[in-house]
Amino acid sequence: MNGAPIGIFDSGVGGLTVARAIGDQLPRESLVYIGDTLHSPYGPKPIADVRRYSLEVLDTLVAQGVKMLVIACNTASAAVLRDARERYDVPVVEVIGPAVRTAISTTRNGRIGVIGTQGTIGSGVYQDMLGVDERLTVFARACPRFVEFVEAGVTGSGELLRVAEEYLAPLREADIDTLVLGCTHYPFLKGAISYVMGPAVSLVSSDVETANDVYRELVTRDLLTDDSGAPSHVYEATGDSAGAFIDLANRLLGREVQSVRLVQTGA
Ligand code: SIN
Repeated sequence: MNGAPIGIFDSGVGGLTVARAIGDQLPRESLVYIGDTLHSPYGPKPIADVRRYSLEVLDTLVAQGVKMLVIACNTASAAVLRDARERYDVPVVEVIGPAVRTAISTTRNGRIGVIGTQGTIGSGVYQDMLGVDERLTVFARACPRFVEFVEAGVTGSGELLRVAEEYLAPLREADIDTLVLGCTHYPFLKGAISYVMGPAVSLVSSDVETANDVYRELVTRDLLTDDSGAPSHVYEATGDSAGAFIDLANRLLGREVQSVRLVQTGA
């Protein structure tokens, strides 16, 4: 079991930010990553559909023999947060809890912004989790077009900056000092978001904190790999084009993703 890979999933390429952070902290661990490109983007879809797609991908990873599941997608985490841990025998790590913890320890004035897809913001999960702390005031805003820009490989155009100004204006006016990037695609837009929000606002993304959770779970459950060979990093997608996934991943992340296997989920 210890030599089995960690299973990671996202609707597309966004979760690669989490996969990279896990690879940095745990370089000996093997990984299997599935991008559910057939159903991407998840953000605008009804939460019941996102739940079904997510469980189908997670079932596929479990059938491949992973030792842990990482839901590297905020919309999927919001959709299956309540039942994924009951459904599977392997530990499940998601991205919302780590981002919430980091935001709470980062803010100085107690005014926290959260941006995400319509699905994530509409679910109210961040607002509920942060709202438990009465000292905090939370300002949430859906930014649906941000995922479109990332999936098109655009991280710095004039059009992106114009859209970012429009989405983020209410958060600037709200005098927040911490902004949660509640979508794993958004770290690719950190430059534009930070430019618009200004240097006084700390951006919180869940990639590194989620990797910390993965590390902690593996140690606590005695699941660290005991394999001394080279780890394998396998990338899979559910859509019909491996080439498009590789091109986009390489544009955003360098040459980490060399090949992609097409898989079917929910079969
Ligand atoms: C999406 O598929 O719309 C974005 C994924 C996320 O919420 O992290």
